[in-house]
Amino acid sequence: MKLIVLGPPGTGKGTISRFIEAKFGCEHISTGDLLRNEVAKKTGIGKKIEHILNAGKLVTNETAMQVLSKKICSLKDGFVLDGFPRNIEQAKLFDLLLSEQKISLDLVLEVDSDDKVVIERLSSRRQCVKCKRIYGHHVPSKKLGVCDDCGSKTIIREDDKSKAIKQRLKIYHETTKKLVEFYSNKKLLIKINGNRSLEKIFPVIEKILKKVV
Ligand code: AP5
Ligand code: MG
Repeated sequence: MKLIVLGPPGTGKGTISRFIEAKFGCEHISTGDLLRNEVAKKTGIGKKIEHILNAGKLVTNETAMQVLSKKICSLKDGFVLDGFPRNIEQAKLFDLLLSEQKISLDLVLEVDSDDKVVIERLSSRRQCVKCKRIYGHHVPSKKLGVCDDCGSKTIIREDDKSKAIKQRLKIYHETTKKLVEFYSNKKLLIKINGNRSLEKIFPVIEKILKKVV
């Protein structure tokens, strides 16, 4: 299965993508995680983009494509893409890439949540530095600051400060949201309400995806 999960910051793209990966076996690819890895490893790219990520702004399309291209070989076996594309230009570049690889997208899942809801969620999010598991107020780890799965530490993201969250939401509404129309026109988009609990959301997604596979 090949799908994109689209939605505002904090709507649950990462949490939902990991659920889909576990249930359906397609690889979760988060461009945000890939970019944060570059920063953590202090690579050339990482040093250039750290301030952009921390401010909640988008890195260039070239950089986003660059980190994604390292993962391209796994695309054929199925993927759930989280955080990419972010604008129409990235979506068009991705279309080109898919057609070169003779791959077609099955679905774009839009998970829509209100700003108020996502701001609250992001204020309590922590993420494992190693396996990238996501925790939060409603999904706490057994011991605060320690990942249940791999025992590594969990941290608060630099861009989860209120100024950066506001910036990320602004970019989402002004730029990324245009992808809803882009993928609706391609008859690929299904929208779900992300304001609900994960217990309510997961079965809805499972039902949708079972029709696709
Ligand atoms: P990215 O990492 O993609 O961040 P984002 O889009 O801002 O989204 P988040 O990861 O913050 O939220 P999420 O939707 O994954 O929610 P989560 O599951 O964690 O991008 C970060 C940065 O990288 C960008 O700002 C940009 O700089 C750069 N970047 C990345 N891709 C790029 C690209 N293509 N081009 C250019 N720049 C790019 O959940 C959030 C919290 O809520 C968690 O605590 C979770 O436990 C909780 N939660 C989730 N769902 C629920 C629920 N239903 N009920 C209760 N709690 C919930
Ligand atoms: Mg995420």
